[in-house]
Amino acid sequence: MFNDLNEFIAVLDKERELARVTEQVSPNLEIAALTDRVSKSAGGGPALLFERPTGYDIPVAINLFGSLKRMCLALDVEKLDDLAHEIEELTTPKMPGGVIDALKMLPMVNRLRDLMPKTVREAPCQEVVRRDGALDELPILKCWPEDGGRYITLPLVFTRDPETNVRNIGTYRMQVYDGRTTGMHWQRHKGGAQHYRVAERLGKRLDVSVALGPDPALAYSATAPMPEGLDELMLAGFLRRDRVELVKCVTNDLEVPATAQIVLEGYVEPGERRREGPFGDHTGFYSHPDDYPVFHVTCITHRKNPVYLTTVVGIPPMEDYYLGMASERIFLPLIRKTLPEIVDMHFPAVGIFHNIVLVSIDKRYPGHARKIMNAFWGLGQLMFSKTIIVVDKDVDVQNEAEVAWIVGTHYDPQRDIQFTKGPVDDLEDASDLAAFGSKMGIDATRKWPSEGFTRPWPKRIVPSDAAVRRADELWEKIRKGWKP
Ligand SMILES: Cc1cc2nc3c(=O)[nH]c(=O)nc-3n(C[C@H](O)[C@H](O)[C@H](O)COP(=O)(O)O)c2cc1C
Repeated sequence: MFNDLNEFIAVLDKERELARVTEQVSPNLEIAALTDRVSKSAGGGPALLFERPTGYDIPVAINLFGSLKRMCLALDVEKLDDLAHEIEELTTPKMPGGVIDALKMLPMVNRLRDLMPKTVREAPCQEVVRRDGALDELPILKCWPEDGGRYITLPLVFTRDPETNVRNIGTYRMQVYDGRTTGMHWQRHKGGAQHYRVAERLGKRLDVSVALGPDPALAYSATAPMPEGLDELMLAGFLRRDRVELVKCVTNDLEVPATAQIVLEGYVEPGERRREGPFGDHTGFYSHPDDYPVFHVTCITHRKNPVYLTTVVGIPPMEDYYLGMASERIFLPLIRKTLPEIVDMHFPAVGIFHNIVLVSIDKRYPGHARKIMNAFWGLGQLMFSKTIIVVDKDVDVQNEAEVAWIVGTHYDPQRDIQFTKGPVDDLEDASDLAAFGSKMGIDATRKWPSEGFTRPWPKRIVPSDAAVRRADELWEKIRKGWKP
């Protein structure tokens, strides 16, 4: 597993997954435009390392997570589902049948130890300490022409609940206002916003530290929809199969990942807001300017030769799709703990995670599909699911065309659509009100007599096995002489 970003970049290089750009390329729109082009190429294109961003000495790493292969490399697995199996095992402890059985469980015990971070005294991320450091020294990108400015797009924002001291880490973009202040775009439903709410109620300043370029498993973990109160460092420790090393900040009491490239230490003041945006967002549209808290930098620490890790979001698919894909696979076994009837789920890229959610279920009783919709609308960040499509277990939800076919043939619009209202994503542009709107579920399962449907369901067309074998042979011959 990777200790730091440098090790990950070295492996990407070795695996020919990284393109080094040696020409000067400007962080002002040019890096984003090339990354967008690359993200839209087959399979998500290569990761990019801009060695000479115009005007800066610090290289820019981008699109590092931007393919399924690299997401697997980042988490050191063959398939993302391997992690799902490990989580399944860890969360379903079995009583050992004897000594041999108990010994076999030892690796699992070690994995539990990995969940706890440990503190170190010396850290690469503090090789250079700059109390007067300014953000102007970092190659922070302006991504799209109408963006309100330069944005830090892949930060790990560390806070602690001022009352309980529980830690939160979230990836929330930060608009650079000047060398020492940025916006803090934690949306109202997120962990950082809740800590700030408590700080404002107490009338207290909230310490905030921001890590840039940690090891890849930790970078992913900050984007993961962990339930409130559960430390993202536990997930990171599990994924990297080793404890996360932390170091105390220089100017506040927070701890940050020791192997990060760069750390911004600072605070947000209660009651202080400033216009943030517009920003070309992962919806594929510019998000509207709005008022958000202001982050004040008190100190910048970094490695002697740091790399600036960032990303660009825009019209899908882009790098964030693959980060979301990891959450889709990692959180499935955890969701199944309360909803065991779920067979699979999928968030298609065009649905930008929550606009289209596909779920297959082992249907057991009348109204089961609607129970799943209601459960999703009440479960963590799945509450943002704007359209949930539920199908039977024999439908492959990873195959979007198959789902579209099944929905078209299985649903009766008046009977099978369920509307509800509730909180919607802060980036939702179609609802009348910000953050409050409607959601829709489509029950595309086969309907039962107990649900009021008494006609017979048609049978799916399947060719006979013998005919398929013969067709395979013949097709092999035809294909050889056929050029499309
Ligand atoms: C590239 C990227 C940028 C993101 N930017 C934001 C953002 O600006 N604001 C926000 O609230 N969430 C943003 N998110 C989503 C959060 O990181 C995600 O919801 C995470 O689970 C939040 O953690 P929390 O539950 O600890 O608050 C972003 C995600 C990614 C992958």
